[in-house]
Amino acid sequence: MDETPVYLKPNVVFEPLVDRWYAWSHLISPATAAMNIVGRHLMIMESFILAPDVHAGAVKNPKMRGGPFMDLSKEKLDEVKELQAETIRGRANMIEFSKAVKELDKMLSIEAKGFGLESLYEKVPSILKGFVELFYDRNNNPAFRFFESILYKSQFYSKSSQSLSLWITNNDERPFVLSTPRLKSKDVVFIDIPFDHPGIDELAKMKRRPQPLRYIKAGLGIPEDQAPLFNTLFTEHPHPSYDKYEGDNIRMRYFGHACILIETKDIAILADPLISYYGYRSDIEHFSDSDLPDVIDYALITHNHQDHILLETLLPLRHKIRNLVIPRTRGGRLEDPDLKLMFNSIGFSNVIEIDEMETIKFKDISITGIPFTGEHSDLNILCKSCHLVEVGRFKLLFMADSRILEPALYKHIFDQIGTVDVIFLGMECDGAPLTWLYGPLFTKKVPRDQDNTRRLSGSDCERGMALIDIFKPAEVYVYAMGQEPWVEFISSIKYTNESNPIVESNKLVSICTERGIIAERLFGEKEILYKRY
Ligand SMILES: [Fe+2]
Repeated sequence: MDETPVYLKPNVVFEPLVDRWYAWSHLISPATAAMNIVGRHLMIMESFILAPDVHAGAVKNPKMRGGPFMDLSKEKLDEVKELQAETIRGRANMIEFSKAVKELDKMLSIEAKGFGLESLYEKVPSILKGFVELFYDRNNNPAFRFFESILYKSQFYSKSSQSLSLWITNNDERPFVLSTPRLKSKDVVFIDIPFDHPGIDELAKMKRRPQPLRYIKAGLGIPEDQAPLFNTLFTEHPHPSYDKYEGDNIRMRYFGHACILIETKDIAILADPLISYYGYRSDIEHFSDSDLPDVIDYALITHNHQDHILLETLLPLRHKIRNLVIPRTRGGRLEDPDLKLMFNSIGFSNVIEIDEMETIKFKDISITGIPFTGEHSDLNILCKSCHLVEVGRFKLLFMADSRILEPALYKHIFDQIGTVDVIFLGMECDGAPLTWLYGPLFTKKVPRDQDNTRRLSGSDCERGMALIDIFKPAEVYVYAMGQEPWVEFISSIKYTNESNPIVESNKLVSICTERGIIAERLFGEKEILYKRY
């Protein structure tokens, strides 16, 4: 059996983990990782240990969806205690780091009153010395930035906390991953390798190219006792083959959420990669891994939110991605970590940063970074970019979760790029409050009334129509709604017909339709061929 060439099954879930929690970008960037270990993981574990029944009740309550509650039974109490102890022991330096950030914030708020900051360097907590630069904004509010490239080379970036879990699924269900760690289970293979390990590429390639089990077991270092379970992840049956686009036009395929593949016969561009699994019964037709080309020339990332940067999708696609285009970030601020360093650290060496109104050109295609406003709780986060993709003269505008705060900005952009043919716009207009995602980065409590006005909200109908009135597209698609069942584990969204994002996007679609604009809220899958001109 070990010598027979086999394929990786299409329903093997590939979950990258940090400290046994679902890995996302803020668990890789060292400073945000420290804050999340303390302000999210340890907090949720402690709360579960104190009252597991409260957690069990909360996860059943639809109003609490996406809240800080573990989807685990009381029987798991000892295992959670064990994970808590392991985290406190193994991540003591990160806990200290997080405490020091709090101390530094406090010291600056007491002592930095508009006078020179030089004398305050000696009061920076010792663990942070040499990792921060202090500054004021123009209104004399003190703050600091991290030298992130130095942090990545320090004890605060630990590859040994990274691991993988692999298991076979027969449905799209998974607990909300920011609140529930992945505990040991007889059905799950855990592999202790870091995310930049080349074995990940070899494993992922086995979806298309069979290899003997012996080869991949050696590549990933699978111990003998894990081998019987590991072997069940493979099959001798090949997968459906990819249907390459050979026509002269442009093929658009919607893969769910904000993931869209644009193909011509020469080029493939994949926006916000999020690929579902297949090989089990699903009520919803959807494209999946077998519908991806062997080479993705450009993968585009719009912003640093957990439902737009899925390491679960990106790591297995790493070997196919020629260029990874990300928004430019260099601030070093805790709330806006450097995405290029994050991707470099996990094995992506082909990262291109794109700035606002900057264009990348190749063949007859260009990609332009477009300003992205809103959906970041009014934090000074620059790591966000929408994209204008032009194939010949055909223009597709990907607006991700943008909230159109000030139409005048888009009039300025219109002056530069003109009308577009198709707009894709996210309309999750009732987003979560600030603290849902960024809470662990705050060292002072955010008052609830402020929190509720600082939401991660996309556009509503009025704001969406403002965009449409400016760019006058022939087609409008609402996307990035977090609605597909295979996205729920990361979006925690479940709408009803009365949910505001559904009501607002229905309204937008019907106004567009009345005006003769083709409009639809995408769900599941969609394929359109566009004529080049
Ligand atoms: Fe977002």
